[in-house]
Amino acid sequence: MTTIGILGAGQAGSTLARAAIAAGYDVVIANSRGPETLRGLVRALGPMARAASAADTAAAADFAVAAFRYTPSDALPVAELAGKVVIDNNNYMPWRDGNFPEVDSGRKTIHELRQEQLPESKVTKAFTHVQFHERHLIRVPSDALPALLRLARPAGAPDRKALVVSSNYPDAVELVTRFYDDLGFDAVDNSPLSESWRSAPGTPMWRHHVDGQSRDELIRNLERAQRITT
Ligand SMILES: NC(=O)c1ccc[n+]([C@@H]2O[C@H](COP(=O)([O-])OP(=O)(O)OC[C@H]3O[C@@H](n4cnc5c(N)ncnc54)[C@H](OP(=O)(O)O)[C@@H]3O)[C@@H](O)[C@H]2O)c1
Repeated sequence: MTTIGILGAGQAGSTLARAAIAAGYDVVIANSRGPETLRGLVRALGPMARAASAADTAAAADFAVAAFRYTPSDALPVAELAGKVVIDNNNYMPWRDGNFPEVDSGRKTIHELRQEQLPESKVTKAFTHVQFHERHLIRVPSDALPALLRLARPAGAPDRKALVVSSNYPDAVELVTRFYDDLGFDAVDNSPLSESWRSAPGTPMWRHHVDGQSRDELIRNLERAQRITT
């Protein structure tokens, strides 16, 4: 049984936990305040989930997810994550996060900065352009589900959607490709991390985070991306 350590228990972390458990994974989940604040979530997720501190979550993980925004001062369990694939699903949004000049100037991507924080881990950008929250304005219950659950389809389905993956480590891309497949999505490899600006907020592919895109559409949209620097 594979255990995923999910650091971050907000919209993204909790929805990813729900999808991963439905696909047969065990989940350990953490937030920044402590496992006692996650009792309700764990009860809702069921027996394949438990909460732990961030360090214990990272230590228990076969691979991990960093489901929270990037800040230069992030407290991270660096030693416990060493040698492991760490999925980074953060979107850089200057209006929310402030400005990072290395990213704004095009010298680095936000995911390269995360890789610098975790030098011995295999940071992999994934799950950044799929909606994790419910769509409150839509009344049909199945349409209101988060896109991660609503768009999932079995392999080979004609309307299966694709998600992007970027990493400096080919074995991490393989792992995330299998994970996407288990959750109901095809994968498009847009490696290395220095290329991951092609899937940043505002790019042609990112605008499909609600209704998704096929593999061919995603490849075309990544090619159409233009880097805007300041
Ligand atoms: N929401 C979406 O639909 C969506 C879609 C694509 C990508 N994303 C990206 O996913 C990330 C999370 O978004 P969200 O909407 O889930 O945010 P959120 O609801 O604010 O949740 C953030 C979670 O991360 C936890 N956290 C913060 N720092 C942590 C640390 N150092 N270690 C462990 N846990 C930590 C917070 O814990 P506390 O509450 O205890 O502080 C909270 O549980 C963002 O980068 C966002 O850009 C979100």
